[in-house]
Amino acid sequence: MAEKNLQNIDLSEYPHINRGLDGIVAFSTTKSFIDGQSGDLIYSGYHIDILAENATFEEVCFLLWNDRLPNKQELHDLNSSLRKQRGLPAPVLDYIKNTNKSAEPMAVLRSAVSMLADFQDDDADDTANAIALTAKMPTIIAAFNRARQGKDIVEPLADGSTAFNFLYMLNGEKPGEAAERTMDLCLVLHAEHGMNASTFTARTVCATESDMFSAITGAIGALKGPLHGGANTAVMNTLLTLKEQGEDADPVAFTKGKLERKEKLMGFGHRVYKTFDPRAFHLRKMSKALSEETGHEYLYNWSEAMVKTMKEEKNIDPNVDFFSATVYYSIGIQPDLYTCIFAMSRISGWTAHFFEQKANNRLIRPRALYVGEKNLEWTPIEER
Ligand code: CMC
Repeated sequence: MAEKNLQNIDLSEYPHINRGLDGIVAFSTTKSFIDGQSGDLIYSGYHIDILAENATFEEVCFLLWNDRLPNKQELHDLNSSLRKQRGLPAPVLDYIKNTNKSAEPMAVLRSAVSMLADFQDDDADDTANAIALTAKMPTIIAAFNRARQGKDIVEPLADGSTAFNFLYMLNGEKPGEAAERTMDLCLVLHAEHGMNASTFTARTVCATESDMFSAITGAIGALKGPLHGGANTAVMNTLLTLKEQGEDADPVAFTKGKLERKEKLMGFGHRVYKTFDPRAFHLRKMSKALSEETGHEYLYNWSEAMVKTMKEEKNIDPNVDFFSATVYYSIGIQPDLYTCIFAMSRISGWTAHFFEQKANNRLIRPRALYVGEKNLEWTPIEER
């Protein structure tokens, strides 16, 4: 036998290893700035509070892609390009109709987005592809949700905003102004967030000089996980578990129990924010108003009890996923679609980063410290 070369390597002796790439600055960007101490977020120069108050999702798309706000004509042109691109190629629609009804919606979105690559015009440039993806993702999500329920698929409208059209295709009826504004604001709040895992994935794929559809397919896969975008669905499942307990539901005991068992509570904590996530302020306000309006006040009250307990016990604040769960629930959206809505918004940030990476590209290729054995001798298979 070869001499063993396995050493107990203390990783703390290797300061160049950053688990989870914590604190590593890999790129410069004009797309967003996060101050994790003060809890501020800026998209291409504009504070999230200003955008939440004033911007539509389509204006945010233009802003992230061009680093400036559109004028009236530019916004009009972008809206008409998006509207023209909402339909799906027939084979993609067939896939959505025929796939396993119990498939995860994020998995269906990932596969359908990947398929779209085969049906784009050969001469479509990255801008055209970004518009097509932004326009088609809501159609994919709504179509799969209806197909899995055995309902007819609702064709996209040739007018209206992304938010309006998505709710229309999901429910088969035109939404009211308040529902449209709620959805639009959620899209604005989720559009861009620095070097999060899915954006990093998109940039990594782009950096190999691969195509935008591959980058976005990878990004959707990264967003799906519960430590990233999948947390919003997990939050709702937590609240629904409490609901099942009826009168015995005790969010404080539930939270403390999780912490005692060293389990994570979804919708809390963040790699960058060490204070309240600025997006969560807006979602909390919406969650309160909508929960009251729709008779789900108890869900909001439980959420607040969990926020208070997490702060007292661990000094950890909620992130964007925590209150978005009750917002979507109050407007009647199924919990397993929440992460798809996140993706439907974040496509703007992912594609903006794709443009940025491509304009100043270098292959992304970090190193790993080898901690395995060396110099092993070959053992014939009969002797193993
Ligand atoms: N519940 C309980 N404890 C937590 C949580 C949580 N949600 N988040 C962090 N902690 C604790 C963690 O146990 C650790 O404690 P200790 O130092 O005692 O071991 C400490 O806080 C540091 O946590 P970490 O896991 O090292 O932090 P990280 O930067 O690696 O992870 C995170 C960040 C977002 C993955 C993590 O906070 C988490 O798993 N949160 C729950 C999932 C979630 O809500 N994800 C959505 C993130 S925001 C939106 C998005 O990007 O998609």
